[in-house]
Amino acid sequence: MSSKISLVSCLIVLAFGVVLANGSRENGGLGIYEIKSGDFSVKVTNYGARIVSVVLPDKHGKLADIVLGYDTIKEYMNDSSYFGAIVGRVANRIGGAKFTLNGTTYKLDANEGSNMLHGGKKGFSQVPWKVLNHRKTGRSPSITLTYHSVNGEEGFPGDVVASVTYALLKPYKLSVKMKAKALNKATPVNLAQHSYWNLGGHNSGDILSDELQIFASHITTVDDHLIPTGKIVPVKNTPYDFRKPLVIKGPIKQLPNGSIGFDINYAVDGHDGLKMKPVAVVYNKKSGRVMKLSANAPGVQLYTGNFVNTTGKGGFAYKTHAALCLETQGFPDSVNHPNFPSVIVAPGKAYEHCMMFTFSTKK
Ligand SMILES: *[C@@H]1O[C@H](CO)[C@@H](O)[C@H](O)[C@H]1NC(C)=O
Ligand SMILES: *[C@@H]1O[C@H](CO)[C@@H](O)[C@H](O)[C@H]1NC(C)=O
Ligand SMILES: *[C@@H]1O[C@H](CO)[C@@H](O)[C@H](O)[C@H]1NC(C)=O
Ligand SMILES: *[C@@H]1O[C@H](CO)[C@@H](O)[C@H](O)[C@H]1NC(C)=O
Repeated sequence: MSSKISLVSCLIVLAFGVVLANGSRENGGLGIYEIKSGDFSVKVTNYGARIVSVVLPDKHGKLADIVLGYDTIKEYMNDSSYFGAIVGRVANRIGGAKFTLNGTTYKLDANEGSNMLHGGKKGFSQVPWKVLNHRKTGRSPSITLTYHSVNGEEGFPGDVVASVTYALLKPYKLSVKMKAKALNKATPVNLAQHSYWNLGGHNSGDILSDELQIFASHITTVDDHLIPTGKIVPVKNTPYDFRKPLVIKGPIKQLPNGSIGFDINYAVDGHDGLKMKPVAVVYNKKSGRVMKLSANAPGVQLYTGNFVNTTGKGGFAYKTHAALCLETQGFPDSVNHPNFPSVIVAPGKAYEHCMMFTFSTKK
């Protein structure tokens, strides 16, 4: 597998816009921004560059919001589930919260026992991002946000400037483009979009009856603390095999630890470091909604909301398995496994991670 994550079709958004007129602001500099195309709309906050809502019709034309989240930015500041966030500088877990690069060992800020999860205590998800450009409607509604992570932040080497562009493409396509540059030192960069999807609606209960297909023949196995062992093993004859569409509650019951759920990285088939590849398809029978995801990243973390237990939008109680996450990314703990595709970005090299969500319905 190539370590190069780049994509020619990732376009650079150069336009700089004035956002004050568009965004509704609260908390001094933090706001919620909408992008909208017909009856398809997405709201984003610059707090953690988070997707706040995704609204679109079901098979009867009835609109629903299909991501978990909160009503106010204050609640996002209190969030421990990473609802809708861009996580970084390095998504997923880093074993022992340390790594060695070119002879220097970097001690990171551990935030999950002795390990690091999703970039540390604040990471990229609990900080304000800057809104660079926002076009609410029109031919290509989009919003671009950026964040400058300084040398030594959470223990990582060098300055990194990251950006994400959310754009709506008709009909019912949501594009997510994450970019980053190392300004002065080589550093690991592995961003992930951490939306919690429930195609039946954020307040419709659990996702166990959804049908899931993942275009991956291998997973990276983990130890008891969910840290990769370094092994890449076939899914064949295991409960992780979603190569053909399966209702989630079948295999979830066969997991070694009962029905706690999935929290595992898949190695996406055919990944070449360049092109967009099919990653997964989710189908919710009741609403008829289908979500197809493709991306140019080597891995995808399947997380079935195993630890969700919070009060969300409209006071609704989100419980275990209330949603699922498909977080495309580099492999977890790559910095400590030379056999995994490298996530090191050297100064002058571009990191580009693109996702395309295509929504449709079937009767
Ligand atoms: C923050 O979380 C704590 C503990 O879960 C809770 O008691 C408090 O009400 C939350 N605050 C907000 C603003 O949601
Ligand atoms: C590691 O050090 C070598 C020699 O100084 C240098 O050529 C190389 O670019 C460095 N690699 C990284 C990832 O910094
Ligand atoms: C199951 O859970 C227990 C307790 O958390 C843990 O010790 C054990 O390693 C787990 N087994 C597997 C196969 O995940
Ligand atoms: C969920 O959170 C509530 C309130 O904090 C707590 O009482 C309850 O035990 C939690 N449930 C689980 C399954 O952790």
